[in-house]
Amino acid sequence: MKIAIVLGTRPEIIKMASVIDEIKKRNHELVLIHTGQHYDKEMSENFFIDLNLPTPNYNIHVGSGSHGKQTGLMMEGIEEVLVDEKVDIVLVQGDTNAVLAGALVSSKLHIPVGHVEAGLRSFDESMPEEINRKAADVCSKMYFVPTEESAINLASEDISRKKIFLTGNTIVDACYRNLKIAEKKEITEESLANLNIDKLNNILTLTIHRAENVDDEKRLKSIIEALKKLNSMNIIFPIHPRTKKTLENFGLLKDLENLNHIHIIKPVGYLDFLLLLSKSSLILTDSGGLQEEAITLNVPALTLRYNTERPETVTAGGNILVGSDTKKIVDTANKILEDEKFKEAMKKASNPYGDGSSAFKILDAIESFYKNDLLTIESPDDIMLSFNRKISIIGNDITVKEFENKFNALVKIAYSNKMHFPYDDLNLKDMTVVFDEYN
Ligand code: UD1
Ligand code: UDP
Repeated sequence: MKIAIVLGTRPEIIKMASVIDEIKKRNHELVLIHTGQHYDKEMSENFFIDLNLPTPNYNIHVGSGSHGKQTGLMMEGIEEVLVDEKVDIVLVQGDTNAVLAGALVSSKLHIPVGHVEAGLRSFDESMPEEINRKAADVCSKMYFVPTEESAINLASEDISRKKIFLTGNTIVDACYRNLKIAEKKEITEESLANLNIDKLNNILTLTIHRAENVDDEKRLKSIIEALKKLNSMNIIFPIHPRTKKTLENFGLLKDLENLNHIHIIKPVGYLDFLLLLSKSSLILTDSGGLQEEAITLNVPALTLRYNTERPETVTAGGNILVGSDTKKIVDTANKILEDEKFKEAMKKASNPYGDGSSAFKILDAIESFYKNDLLTIESPDDIMLSFNRKISIIGNDITVKEFENKFNALVKIAYSNKMHFPYDDLNLKDMTVVFDEYN
């Protein structure tokens, strides 16, 4: 098979690394397209080095800019590549502008799209990422979801269960593989090495870059007030370029740099960063990936947001949403530090994102679609006549697969006192089932 991957930012490189490895291992041809949205060495190239990834075949060099300009340039560049390369499938990951551009362009060229980390929803449409992930899901042919919650989100949006694959999140692949490597090597980033993290107590790792936090002066100031008050912690803050820029623009950076308990450093490579996370007592973040890494590495997380598209981390007990409210951030952080039982319970939260075999499952699913000729995009002749949507309450023991075979149907979703994703072997007894019955 010939598989294209479109990526452009730090988290996409990290989360696609195991997929790239698996494509290579299975001897498929890979066309790697970097949009160039992240271009600083420490936001892009260093991850190719740390994760031992091949140099992209194409770099579109879009750089920074407004959403429209960035997405438009990406679309133009991706289209040119895809028209030439004739790939069997295009993979995109997550919710950045690359996902929007890659998915839109590919689907219009009738090239199937596989969305890695599909189905996440914050239900906050003011976030650019929410628009990106929803638009990408409209354009996709295969959905690789990290959890059952994400699968249910998609099923509720009328996406066929046959296209949804519960694979876990590739961030777990990345964490498990790379922490072992990180533990055996010296820290690369000098500023981090100088902090001597083996000997530091109470490490709090901080990352913040979300537009709604750092572009809003009031919210940013409120978070900074909390950081000032958390002076019993050693706050290590690898600063995202967007955040550096806005802190400078608001005249807030110098003030922060002068505080002894806050160590502002450049963004660090993945291996250094994993080591830092594993030695942290607490993670304070608005990053998507960090919420997942925290629960994978058993480190309590406080998320500087009022909603999350990763609610599983909150219900599992490993993550608390504290928004940007100074008092809430400080009180919750102190409770974790002072109340050993509370902290231990957070550390024990079970990881909802799988066992580190996501890339393997993703490639298995793609190969099976390819073999069964399910990757084609063509217009059906009889779509208006082909099925009736029905709803029934099921009285007897019958699995989804048995039901579908018996009635020539496709189960969309099943309800008891809650929604269920209709896995093949789900017993539908006493459930209300929405299904399409084919003529
Ligand atoms: C982007 C993604 C966001 C993701 C984040 C990961 C979108 C809409 N946003 O946000 O979902 O969580 O990446 O980090 O796709 N900059 C540099 N050097 C770089 C990259 C950026 O200096 O290498 C600065 C520029 O001033 C730029 C700003 O950071 O204007 C923001 O960068 P941009 O890529 O637009 O958005 P992110 O905040 O990085
Ligand atoms: N990360 C890193 N070095 C840093 C900060 C973050 O390697 O200095 C990694 C982190 O481990 C995670 C990813 O970058 O895997 C998260 O990226 P980011 O927060 O930029 O994006 P998001 O996940 O919010 O989309």
